Amino acid sequence: TTHRLAVIPGDGIGTEVTPAAQSVLDAVAARHGFGFDYREFDWSCERYRTEGAMMPADGLDRLRDHDAILLGAVGSPGVPDHVSLWGLLIPIRRTFRQYVNLRPVRCFDGVESPLRNADVDLVVVRENIEGEYSQIGGRINSGFPDEMAVQETVFTRVGVSRIADYAFRLATTRRHRLTSATKSNGIVHTLPFWDEVVAERAQGFPDVDWDAEHIDALCAKVVLDPGRFDVIVGSNLFGDILSDLTAAVAGSIGIAPSANLNPERDFPSMFEPVHGSAPDIAGRGVANPIGAIWSAAMLLDHLGHPEAATEVVDAIAAVLSETPLRTPDLGGTATTSEFTAAIVKRVA
Ligand code: NAI
Ligand code: MG
Repeated sequence: TTHRLAVIPGDGIGTEVTPAAQSVLDAVAARHGFGFDYREFDWSCERYRTEGAMMPADGLDRLRDHDAILLGAVGSPGVPDHVSLWGLLIPIRRTFRQYVNLRPVRCFDGVESPLRNADVDLVVVRENIEGEYSQIGGRINSGFPDEMAVQETVFTRVGVSRIADYAFRLATTRRHRLTSATKSNGIVHTLPFWDEVVAERAQGFPDVDWDAEHIDALCAKVVLDPGRFDVIVGSNLFGDILSDLTAAVAGSIGIAPSANLNPERDFPSMFEPVHGSAPDIAGRGVANPIGAIWSAAMLLDHLGHPEAATEVVDAIAAVLSETPLRTPDLGGTATTSEFTAAIVKRVA
């Protein structure tokens, strides 16, 4: 088989870590007897500067007949971040109904974690298309003392049910523990609704031990005792914040992968590292490629190659535990390509 992949390297280190992920994909696929046919798209802030849009008007149509999308990162100094987000990432997630954003976190042996003895192996399941990231609201009285901004949060029964079901089902394949992030003491309409729907769906998974924690207390517990968490399900905003926090707890944001999944598979899913375009280190060839490579492993899993996926994650773990190779964010001096070559060698 040959899988058709749409590749959007994007901006900054996105253009450095995406080819790294592709070389790992090619190496592991060759050994397992399948391959990839890549179509590359230059959609980015660079394109926005010259063409006035992150992607062409028919961009989503051009993506839809691919088996999956591999994305680097978008964002560039001088282009407002809401342009890059709403001009590319959010339309892809919403139009292709990628309502699950899966963000696994592990503390690899050989990676210095900010927390001593941290034994972290958890997954943040982020609701990816509704919640706090809505376009409903507005601003009035700009510049006057009575200026105000209002932004609505949208939770639907369908939306909360399906993300809860996905998270509970995932917990049954892991350690049967689930934590739901909430704040229903302060936010009195939407989050009590979230809590009710999650509790309802929990009844379908009697073998999962679950509870709900307020997001503020949950953040503290994730830092103080990350080892006790297995699956954490949260709204779009809570899931976003939690996954950067958990990634940092495990060592570096450069390690963290993510999958934007369309579980029904009626549209392509998208795989991207959690980190952004990192303009502070872009162009030097020193970005940590682990987040992008691990995201590629999630892509392999999604396309029906779980063994190849496991081999890639095992190769990351092995290089970190058996060699001193590290990119600068992990305290080393290796370049992106030196680290990638070590992974490629192990999976080829
Ligand atoms: P960032 O993730 O790009 O960088 C945060 C810090 O982590 C920086 O110091 C950076 O050097 C470091 N870092 C990130 N990834 C790394 C890697 N692979 N290896 C080594 N160090 C790494 O987040 P920041 O600075 O808030 O945003 C920069 C731009 O990226 C902004 O325009 C933002 O909107 C965009 N962004 C895009 C995302 C996406 O495309 N999904 C996600 C997050 C941010
Ligand atoms: Mg984020």
